[in-house]
Amino acid sequence: MKNAVRNVICGTSTLVAVVLSFMPVITGERDIAISAHHFDHAVLMMFGAIAGLSLYRSRSGDFESPRWIWPALLGPLVAMMLMAPGLYAIVDRAPLLHAFNHLLFVVIAGLTAYAGQRYVSGVGWASALMLELMAVAAAFGYGVAPAVASAPTAVQATSSVARGPADLVHGRQIFAQNCAACHGAAGQGGMGPSLRNEHIRKGEVAAAAWIKKPAPPMPALYPGVLNEKDVRDVAAFVESLK
Ligand code: HEC
Repeated sequence: MKNAVRNVICGTSTLVAVVLSFMPVITGERDIAISAHHFDHAVLMMFGAIAGLSLYRSRSGDFESPRWIWPALLGPLVAMMLMAPGLYAIVDRAPLLHAFNHLLFVVIAGLTAYAGQRYVSGVGWASALMLELMAVAAAFGYGVAPAVASAPTAVQATSSVARGPADLVHGRQIFAQNCAACHGAAGQGGMGPSLRNEHIRKGEVAAAAWIKKPAPPMPALYPGVLNEKDVRDVAAFVESLK
């Protein structure tokens, strides 16, 4: 392939990858399912990998060398670690950080593909394919746990809360008394955000953890006003809002 063509492909895919990376900043954080989000990562990495593959031999100094095997092998591992569920809670609250996290995926994908090519021409395609397979597998739930499992408070929440099904009727009462003023009688939102489809953003455990330790201006009502069971029931009620 001509160098000019390589440069155009490389430039275009880099540009697309960067624009896509900044989606959380451009559109604001949207409520999309975790699987869809991982699928987005796979798309980002695909453009990064195309950029890396087309970068190879676009310049004259690109000869093959054994030491490039390392980034080619480690790239997918680092990408997987960046998808660690523990990061969701941090990254999803700050769109810029989220975009930066996306950019890292793009860079890693580009490096993995390029490094593979530098190791032995052709290997870059294989390493890029591995990375893609990993990202798509993540979208189907392989290798990454649901976000709720990782919230630091999740461990305490599950260990100390009474077992057995939550009481939704009681949860509704707690909500009407303590939450409706800000979140609306039906959770439709008001001074506080709408809690409809909250289950997409936070699972039950994460919602309970948030209710126990909210960020201002939402008041912390636990353990003063609400007890362990109240929190669990109201969290279950919030999760049921459609
Ligand atoms: C004084 C008003 C106020 C009260 C009372 C209040 N909240 Fe909130 N709540 C907020 C605000 C504001 C936010 C957004 C805070 C943020 O995102 O930093 C919020 C956020 C939340 C969230 C997280 C939404 C998300 O982004 O995932 C949940 C869940 C929630 N509230 C549930 C409750 C429940 C349950 C109660 C009652 C026990 C309650 N809130 C009482 C104001 C309130």
